[in-house]
Amino acid sequence: MTTIIDGKKVAEEIRAELKNKIDWLRSLNLRVPGLVTIMVGDNPASYSYVTSKGKACNAIGMLSKIEKLDETATEQQLLDLIDFYNSSNDFDGILVQLPLPKHINEDKVIERISPAKDVDGFHPITIGNLVIGKDTFYPCTPNGIVELLKYYKIETSGKHVVVVGRSNIVGKPIANMMLQKKEGANSIVTICHSAAKDLSRYTKDADILIAAIGQPNFIKADMVKEGVVVIDVGINRLEDSTKPKGYRIVGDVDFENVSPKASYITPVPGGVGLMTIAMLLRNTFLAYIKITKQKLA
Ligand SMILES: NC(=O)c1ccc[n+]([C@@H]2O[C@H](COP(=O)([O-])OP(=O)(O)OC[C@H]3O[C@@H](n4cnc5c(N)ncnc54)[C@H](OP(=O)(O)O)[C@@H]3O)[C@@H](O)[C@H]2O)c1
Repeated sequence: MTTIIDGKKVAEEIRAELKNKIDWLRSLNLRVPGLVTIMVGDNPASYSYVTSKGKACNAIGMLSKIEKLDETATEQQLLDLIDFYNSSNDFDGILVQLPLPKHINEDKVIERISPAKDVDGFHPITIGNLVIGKDTFYPCTPNGIVELLKYYKIETSGKHVVVVGRSNIVGKPIANMMLQKKEGANSIVTICHSAAKDLSRYTKDADILIAAIGQPNFIKADMVKEGVVVIDVGINRLEDSTKPKGYRIVGDVDFENVSPKASYITPVPGGVGLMTIAMLLRNTFLAYIKITKQKLA
């Protein structure tokens, strides 16, 4: 029997738990955690992501601010703004919405965010700590995957996790997280990418298959074994004239044909995607705790 992993339910529980904690802080007249999201330019997709993050903060009582810079803003203006929030006492998390306009160096911008406020988990220091297994901010989407596996009590220790995709935001961090000698991880990990000549050779051996490819319905039923746990990270638009928006969202896995073979599978939408913002809120709360503890020490 296949269990459909309910990302909506898990994400809602995490938000509710955070809301309770923030309500409690407010009841004591204490400062609440704050997240500032910085975007440059008018990319409609970025604007939609940024506003949904802002709404998610507001819904749990977290302080939220959106800083919108003009498309023509200089790299220095953006760095100065990050410096301002690095030393702000009101904001614990700083997120710069990517992609940035071409004239701005993304690496330089990410590196400018204080690691103490790096709630997106993209700073090289954060990633370095993740790789060596130190306490850090885990990037939100990979962290959401780990959270779903834990919630459904899916055994990971000694299991073969095959990650398809090696991006810095999903593939590499999730592979490194599953590799750690920790509860909810301790897996044998294989990372695949576009140079794999026969991808099935690897995916067929997966106990847990994590697909972060960016190609609709790419993983087919004959590429997985019976009983596999499937985590589909993909978010792809497929034209569909029957839908009001003219498209529908599908994952990287051919859900219809793969799900009968799987023991657990995440749907798209309704799976990993909903966990990302929940994890961002949790990271911001953790940043608040760390910063507050440091001030009291
Ligand atoms: N919140 C969320 O749920 C969330 C967050 C982030 C991303 N996503 C979605 O997840 C998907 C992946 O995102 P991403 O940012 O990781 O993508 P990305 O940066 O484009 O990376 C895609 C990876 O897939 C690999 N790949 C492409 N074609 C392949 C093939 N035929 N065989 C094997 N590997 C192949 C690429 O290999 P090479 O390295 O060799 O090019 C690359 O490593 C996208 O659909 C994205 O929208 C969802």
